[in-house]
Amino acid sequence: MSAEGLAQAEKRMAEHGEDDLSVRAFASSYGQLEQILQTGSGGVVPEDTIEPLTDVPTPDDVDLDEAALAEALGQVAVVKLNGGLGTSMGITGPKSALPVKDGLSFLDVICRQVLALRERYGVALPLVLMDSFRTREESLEILHRYPDLEVEGLPLDFLQSAEPKLRADDLTPVDHPADPALEWCPPGHGDVYVSLQRTGILDTLLERGIRYVFLSNADNLGATCDPRIAAWIVANDVPYVAEVCERTVNDRKGGHLAVRKADGRLVLRDSAMVAPGEDHFFQDTSRHTTFHANNLWVDLRVVKALLDDAQERGEVGLGLPVIVNRKTVDPSDASSTEVIQIETAMGAAIEKIEGARALFVPRDRFRPVKTTNELLLVRSDIFELDEHSSVVSTIDHPDPYVDLDKPFKLVPAFEERFAHGVPSLKQATRFVVEGDVHFGADVVVVGDVTVDGADTPRVADGTRLQG
Ligand code: UTP
Repeated sequence: MSAEGLAQAEKRMAEHGEDDLSVRAFASSYGQLEQILQTGSGGVVPEDTIEPLTDVPTPDDVDLDEAALAEALGQVAVVKLNGGLGTSMGITGPKSALPVKDGLSFLDVICRQVLALRERYGVALPLVLMDSFRTREESLEILHRYPDLEVEGLPLDFLQSAEPKLRADDLTPVDHPADPALEWCPPGHGDVYVSLQRTGILDTLLERGIRYVFLSNADNLGATCDPRIAAWIVANDVPYVAEVCERTVNDRKGGHLAVRKADGRLVLRDSAMVAPGEDHFFQDTSRHTTFHANNLWVDLRVVKALLDDAQERGEVGLGLPVIVNRKTVDPSDASSTEVIQIETAMGAAIEKIEGARALFVPRDRFRPVKTTNELLLVRSDIFELDEHSSVVSTIDHPDPYVDLDKPFKLVPAFEERFAHGVPSLKQATRFVVEGDVHFGADVVVVGDVTVDGADTPRVADGTRLQG
């Protein structure tokens, strides 16, 4: 635990080409980390300090006049968080480059959605990715296929900073000569505010009359830049909006918002911020009835004022609470050195912004791909792209429950097993694969089906699996 550890990390960051603001932001998070580890407290949101979130408004009462929608949308830029490594799905580059629908990647779909909105409403609607050192090249290659996408004077992406992973035993930067790239990680999506500031994009957007950014995960295809929400924000003059959706028993892991008793502000509690022994509160979906979709609408003038104030005090960033993420230096090798990655979440900014609101939105604005089960669903025929490149459901009943076994967990293995296309799931209620199975082309699943690799290692082309 050490000033020495921080000094070493700062030196490495400087040598790595990280700028002064990034290094200082890291130093501030490092200080929080030390405090959490020394006092054994902090970094959590105890249940007795919060009240559940209730009476969340919906954006239903806005003026749906096209001109009003265009007026609101004209003040918005779209920023997609694209710096994460998708490690839990075994991906090393950007998850958003994976083909997801009709051979199009997440990024293709995002570009088309933005272009469709521009066309329909006659607005500038800039699209900018937040990339990390691991995701930039492949992502920009996709964006460059859309020559009209770039807005003059604005880049198509900006790079978030990189920070050293820290040895869990002494908080010094870890060494991993076998693959030095693994010594580094992005600092979580909470980095977006400082990154917008230090790359000058925040100022450029404001100069161009863009007042709001819509921030969302690149792997959430439901997160379209909905003009009705923009209009609601403009009409109600809200500085920061976090979209929330109804929480079901399947959503118990994701973060939720709550009201902090001390000052009435909204706070984000992610699963990593639950106090020991309080998991039952966190998981109680009748108490905390909505979850945080990580779709945010943020007034850039308000963020700029907060960042400028911090700078005047000699600080950097919004002072977001850190999340202590414990991993191994090589995520695919559980016996490699244990490390801590210090991260912050962008949604934690809600507690820093007076007047921030939650907004209740339909569930279809949260359609993430965190597992290959979700990848299968979105690739299947239960979804299609409409004329605006929005992902829409083709069924009028709930999505089937999908559970693929371990051999499908990582994307390359999944691709191999569905090399001829994914099965039709339109008529399925449940699709479970046990063990290892390779699927042929044009397989149709009807009803409640379990395929067991022990008796059926291959499903032939054109098979109708009926349960
Ligand atoms: P998550 O933290 O949910 O992670 O990121 P993930 O990328 O899905 O993957 P795992 O946990 O490594 O498997 C939510 C969104 O935030 C972006 C990701 O790209 C994703 O769109 N993100 C995450 C960043 O842009 N930067 C970060 O440092 C972390």
